[in-house]
Amino acid sequence: MKAVVYQRPFSVEVHEVADPKILHPNDAIIKVTTSCICGSDLHMYEGRTAAEPGIIFGHENMGVVVDIGPGVARLKVGDRVVLPFNVACGHCRNCESGYSAFCTEVNPGFAGGAYGYVAMGPYSGGQAEYLRIPFADYNALNLPQGTEFESDFALLADVFPTGWHGVSLSGFRPGESVAVFGAGPVGLMAAYSAILRGATAVYVVDKVKERLDKAGSIGAIPIDFSEGDPVEQIYEWSHGEGVDRGVDAVGYQAVSGDHEVPNAVIDALIRVVRPTGGLGIPGLYVPSDPGGQDAQAQKGYLTVAFGKLFEKGLTVGTGQCNVKAYNRQLRDLIIANKARPSFIVSHELPLDEAPVAYEKFDQRTDGFTKVLLHP
Ligand SMILES: NC(=O)c1ccc[n+]([C@@H]2O[C@H](COP(=O)([O-])OP(=O)(O)OC[C@H]3O[C@@H](n4cnc5c(N)ncnc54)[C@H](O)[C@@H]3O)[C@@H](O)[C@H]2O)c1
Ligand SMILES: [Zn+2]
Ligand SMILES: [Zn+2]
Repeated sequence: MKAVVYQRPFSVEVHEVADPKILHPNDAIIKVTTSCICGSDLHMYEGRTAAEPGIIFGHENMGVVVDIGPGVARLKVGDRVVLPFNVACGHCRNCESGYSAFCTEVNPGFAGGAYGYVAMGPYSGGQAEYLRIPFADYNALNLPQGTEFESDFALLADVFPTGWHGVSLSGFRPGESVAVFGAGPVGLMAAYSAILRGATAVYVVDKVKERLDKAGSIGAIPIDFSEGDPVEQIYEWSHGEGVDRGVDAVGYQAVSGDHEVPNAVIDALIRVVRPTGGLGIPGLYVPSDPGGQDAQAQKGYLTVAFGKLFEKGLTVGTGQCNVKAYNRQLRDLIIANKARPSFIVSHELPLDEAPVAYEKFDQRTDGFTKVLLHP
């Protein structure tokens, strides 16, 4: 089959590789109909993780079941499914508590597994024609048969639940205001979730025009950080009040001016969230960054205004999204015509165009906001 294989920093190629096989009775194989490119893939693509050449990328996958192992009880050949980016067992302590992003069984020595991702276990990615699904009865979420809502459902694998999770991590309640930093797919989905959940005002900070326009299109207030301190701009809009909640949908590769400042967003959130408010941090921070600017950054150590955080009594929530905690309800919002997350999708391309799509999405040019690959 064909698959998108990581070669070296800033290079992926579409190669012929072996088809996946059933390796365990609880496995299923899907024929991939959609696999999205994610901002998380870019950390690997840019050589900013320990990812080795040869990884097949793709953790946002959906498709149709074409084979099942003898232990699979619930899924059938022909079922249309979307897979959480998390690979999880369903029976460990964390899975049982709903924390499927921190499964202790699927990636020994580590809490959490994923498809096609460095340090997340031996699971191949879905930017390919076929994909093996471990613990398939637990991991796969069934979808209505056919092709309807394909681009909405594809976003259930990661960014829609992750945006929702970011808002939950912040402690948000209806009637509150939110500042979302980053208008990439995760930030736009956090803003959309906050609006669906009854936020009074949602500010979205970025500097990429097309992305800020998408934020404006759903009723959020776009804040362009290239035009001045975003915190000051939000204070101005909110008549000096700041916001109740803040979401970091950027992570450790945050930029300030034209260079990277890993603590830029956390610092801004501590300033802009009102005393006793909360920060939700789905944006990625890593314990090892080969491209970090100094020895501290390379170990994932950040300087944060912890004194201010304490003084303001802020709460902080972090971590990978437990997709299974949200994806069923978000699927049903899509089916009920109450949510249409696909407004973020800018490009739908065949697998062969993945190398160009990675390049453009990485440069955030030509309106590449969210790319769906259809193998
Ligand atoms: N927690 C999870 O489960 C999870 C899941 C998916 C993605 N992520 C992480 O979420 C982050 C966002 O993902 P994405 O797909 O939206 O990525 P993306 O790279 O497309 O978007 C990030 C956006 O942040 C903007 N940005 C950079 N510096 C900024 C700053 N100082 N202030 C405001 N905006 C700034 C960029 O211009 C860009 O538009 C990534 O770190 C990704 O790894 C986490
Ligand atoms: Zn993703
Ligand atoms: Zn588990």
